[in-house]
Amino acid sequence: MKALESKLPQVGTTIFTLMSQLAEQHRAVNLSQGFPDFRPPPELLDLVDRALAGRHHQYALMPGSTALRTAIAEKLAALYGVTVDPVAEITVTSGATEAIFDAIQAIVRRDDEVIVFDPCYDSYEPSITLAGGRTVHLPLTGSRFAIDWDRLRQALNWRTRLVIVNSPHNPSGALLARADYERLAELLRPYDCYLLSDEVYEHVVFDGAKHATALAHPELRERCFAVFSFGKTYHATGWKLGYCVAPPALSAELRRVHQYVTFASTSPLQQALAEYMSAHPEHHLNLPEFYQERRDYFAKLLAATKFKPLRSAGTYFQLADYSAISALPDVEFARWLTIEHGVATIPISVFYREPPDARLVRFCFAKENSTLDAAAERLRRL
Ligand SMILES: Cc1ncc(COP(=O)(O)O)c(C=O)c1O
Repeated sequence: MKALESKLPQVGTTIFTLMSQLAEQHRAVNLSQGFPDFRPPPELLDLVDRALAGRHHQYALMPGSTALRTAIAEKLAALYGVTVDPVAEITVTSGATEAIFDAIQAIVRRDDEVIVFDPCYDSYEPSITLAGGRTVHLPLTGSRFAIDWDRLRQALNWRTRLVIVNSPHNPSGALLARADYERLAELLRPYDCYLLSDEVYEHVVFDGAKHATALAHPELRERCFAVFSFGKTYHATGWKLGYCVAPPALSAELRRVHQYVTFASTSPLQQALAEYMSAHPEHHLNLPEFYQERRDYFAKLLAATKFKPLRSAGTYFQLADYSAISALPDVEFARWLTIEHGVATIPISVFYREPPDARLVRFCFAKENSTLDAAAERLRRL
């Protein structure tokens, strides 16, 4: 046989896995990978126990349990005033990652162009490549990581099949406002082009800001796959449950992929989440405050170090400039910090095709205060 030719030759083990492995090897405090070290709400765990003791062990419906899709539609209406048909427009997936993959496979054809904004989440490009598409990277600009509308206007053309936006934005924490969606709608109007709106951190927004969803913009809604994650909202990233909201025709295409990727997502967890979401809206309503306290706590700790935090308006990530500590490039700095000083972070250059000459690392502050304290004690010594 000929040597195997990889379909994804650029892809290795992700930096998230590598940094977590390095953190374990060197007993570092792990503020790299984006997962909380606190537990999901106890009432939700009770409901999971009950679902497991009950009848919820066989395949769920392919697009998701009816109860869960109904609960999601009710939440979208209550929170954003968006009317969604749970039967035709919501698909439950195995994490937002699956929803992103399914949407891209459903829409992107050979040689289509897909515009992403760097720094961007790492699953987009491999999914685009597998679909035969070409990823066009545009940089977010300035310390606020804003979309450069002129560059977007120049990049859009008749081959553009999809634009991917992410708000609240990982890794910068930047938010898109309603006015941004207006601009986006205006620029996309002439093209037969879809929008993938990655809104997995919808409930992690700070300083009184309200999450603006692309679904609330009537024109974008027509061409939009909006993707959400239960993992981020319920401190349960390991459950790998998410969902996609899209108009009926787009959802039908997404489901053609979904049904042969996973067919359906885990039944007992869908049942538990359906009951919990309906009974406890206060959980997601209180999440901004919950995470803002952690952001502020971590910012106070960083203030006693030589790191310079950038503004984090959302997500549970904090970017920080380390140029007062070291001139090393960020990947080397992150390795050094983990191995020599026992704190694991993510270097921001891995989110770029063409990284800027910045000295920034990303901390995840979705951690117990004791974990953040332990990290800060080590960072203060630098
Ligand atoms: C921006 C972004 N999109 C999507 C995901 C994937 O979410 P899930 O864990 O539900 O697959 C993540 C997870 O870190 C993320 O940060």
